[in-house]
Amino acid sequence: MPPLPRIRLLATGGTIAGAQTGGDQRGYKAATLSMDALIAAVPQLAALAAIAVEQVAAIGSQDMDDATWLTLAARAQAALDAPGIAGVVITHGTDTMEETAFFLNLVLRTEKPVVLVGAMRPATAISADGPMNLYNAVAVAVAPETSRRGVLVVANDEIHFAREVAKTNTTQVGTFRATHRGLAGLVNAGRLHFYAPPVRRHTAASEFAPLPVSPSPHLPVSQSSAPLPRVDIVYAHAGMGREAIDAAVRAGARGIVIAGVGDGNLGAVALSAAAAAARADVAIVRSSRTGGGVVERNIEIDDDGLGFIAADELNPQKARVLLMLGLTRTSDRRALQEMFFTY
Ligand code: SIN
Repeated sequence: MPPLPRIRLLATGGTIAGAQTGGDQRGYKAATLSMDALIAAVPQLAALAAIAVEQVAAIGSQDMDDATWLTLAARAQAALDAPGIAGVVITHGTDTMEETAFFLNLVLRTEKPVVLVGAMRPATAISADGPMNLYNAVAVAVAPETSRRGVLVVANDEIHFAREVAKTNTTQVGTFRATHRGLAGLVNAGRLHFYAPPVRRHTAASEFAPLPVSPSPHLPVSQSSAPLPRVDIVYAHAGMGREAIDAAVRAGARGIVIAGVGDGNLGAVALSAAAAAARADVAIVRSSRTGGGVVERNIEIDDDGLGFIAADELNPQKARVLLMLGLTRTSDRRALQEMFFTY
């Protein structure tokens, strides 16, 4: 028998490692169980791969932060660079999985499979979804056809591209959707089918990969100890004032992503605050709170005149990831805009 493919499993916590806290099926605590216990619950994994586990964090993904992203990226890159490793699987909470997946999609220099997996129900729940999701994630990670597709998310028998996927439901197992162009593929009890290639640059072709190890020369001295430039998201709404934008600027944000109404729009008062921020060299990216569609330049807002950047298809939380990385390279608005058309 040929040796099994070797997979490095990087564990970060989340509901997949969660356990219920009482008799009630609903209450639980994320990141409670060890990865070894989760693997032991799926003995069928032993026929798929030789899995080595590394615990990178043990958190609910609401606590995912820049420092943990950088550690996770470094550990994933080290594993991917090892010649004997076929791919990397990362267990992660579903709440911010799309952000971590997109971050890694931009900073890992690899053509090997990288698969994020989580669960909506804790490991101790009736009909926990984690065991099958984990089995499917490893099956996707060992499949030769997974190479060169960028970072993927596997859950609920679906395979999603990091750039396209979003969490869309608070509790249901079918929470992950890719509204713009659908699934990367399907995986049914370990048998998989890919349906589409990724549409934008990623991983080995990304200008952000691999991550620089030293602080960026584009960061101001006051932020040079921060791992990545500060970028805040401001959510637009009817009757919006200027306070949230002004507060982000005062807090030291180098960029602000507007989760705009409709086509990334803002009312007049908030718009004048965003324009003032842009004049003060804060990068303003217009995204949309609608959950789908393109934000184009110069439709209702004069992006050219105001020095704004349009997010294209990226939702606010992914636009934030790209802007953070972009600001490590440049503060030039045109160059940043080009990144949003590229990734
Ligand atoms: C989390 O994101 O860590 C909690 C929710 C989940 O994993 O589904």
